Amino acid sequence: MTLVTDVRLRRVLDSRGNPTVEADVLTEEGGFGRAAAPSGASTGEYEAIELPASEAIAKAREDAVPRLVGEVHAGNQREVDAALHAADGTDDFSSIGANSAVAISMAAAKAGASVAGMPLYQHLGGTFRGNSFPIPLGNVVGGGEHAADATDIQEFLSVPVGAPSVSEAIFANAAVHQEVHDILIDRDVPSGKGDEGAWAPSIDDGEAFEIMDEATKAVADEVGFEIRFGLDVAAAEMYEDGAYQYSDRERSTEEQVEYIADLVREYDLKYVEDPLDEDDYEGFADLTEQVGDRTLVCGDDLFVTNTDRLGDGIQQGAANSILIKPNQIGTLSDAFDAIELAVENAYGHVVSHRSGETEDTTIAHLAVATDAPFIKTGAVGGERTAKLNELIRIEDNAV
Ligand code: PGA
Ligand code: ZN
Repeated sequence: MTLVTDVRLRRVLDSRGNPTVEADVLTEEGGFGRAAAPSGASTGEYEAIELPASEAIAKAREDAVPRLVGEVHAGNQREVDAALHAADGTDDFSSIGANSAVAISMAAAKAGASVAGMPLYQHLGGTFRGNSFPIPLGNVVGGGEHAADATDIQEFLSVPVGAPSVSEAIFANAAVHQEVHDILIDRDVPSGKGDEGAWAPSIDDGEAFEIMDEATKAVADEVGFEIRFGLDVAAAEMYEDGAYQYSDRERSTEEQVEYIADLVREYDLKYVEDPLDEDDYEGFADLTEQVGDRTLVCGDDLFVTNTDRLGDGIQQGAANSILIKPNQIGTLSDAFDAIELAVENAYGHVVSHRSGETEDTTIAHLAVATDAPFIKTGAVGGERTAKLNELIRIEDNAV
């Protein structure tokens, strides 16, 4: 019924103006799905390999498309993703490119959903539970690899933990984004935006903490529910010569653990992503031991959506949650495996965008389908609001 009849691949623009891979999957019975690969800037060393878009497309046309067309059913995600692995033949998609793989994998899921006449999140096995929606983490100020001459810490994220609905949470994050801007204007700090739409002022991390504290409290007072904040430190990007290189000083691993633990306590942070280098399971375990009972310690570059790396982390008590980025591992089935392992071990999962994005909304459906406690997909900007508005539609039963 959902036998794949055609796979079309093309280059489209991502939000940074770079080419990325878009896939269309067509099936019998008029099934159709379209999806595009996102792209990172602070990519983890252990991620599946993204090839230049034209090369990924050429390789996938040659090796993957013949194994899909007339061979697999779009409604059978495992079958599609196994064919992608077989076509590639490596363990990191370095032959056909994780960007081609993930675009085809997601497009196939949408084609399967279209034949079934279901929204994607339902086709992927989920239902929307109004009282346990994914809380959006909204990137509102930051720097790192996403903006030059801004904060060392890559992302300061608004976390509307007390929001009664997805839409109220999403509007709260947008309000925090606006409030941050107002505070920056009051302080005479001009600011552009980084790759994910967060303000990227030329301030130090200390001032960003002050501003986040003020902005989240002001908006919480207005909306009448609790808003905390959190961080993506993206510490692998600042780890060099055995220490964390901040603009004003360096910190040893022990100092970094202490610094982050103190920040969690001082600002009651709800969320801390990649506080240590991507090879430092031990440092992650130390920090989790200290503050894991009061905050989410999340592995992004540490785990790269990979079950082997997550398994190592679980064994060592490193982190208590995992970021899920389908393009880090190459297929939806692999992402589902990572989520399943996380859930079995009481690790929270946070479905996430990349800094380079398109209008694709697959991750909004993935978060709902897997009952993710959090989704990280920005606060403003078209490629971010595409996902946020899709969540609002899902909540409104309008997808
Ligand atoms: P990236 O950053 O998409 O540039 O890798 C996002 C993140 O680190 O979470
Ligand atoms: Zn990250």
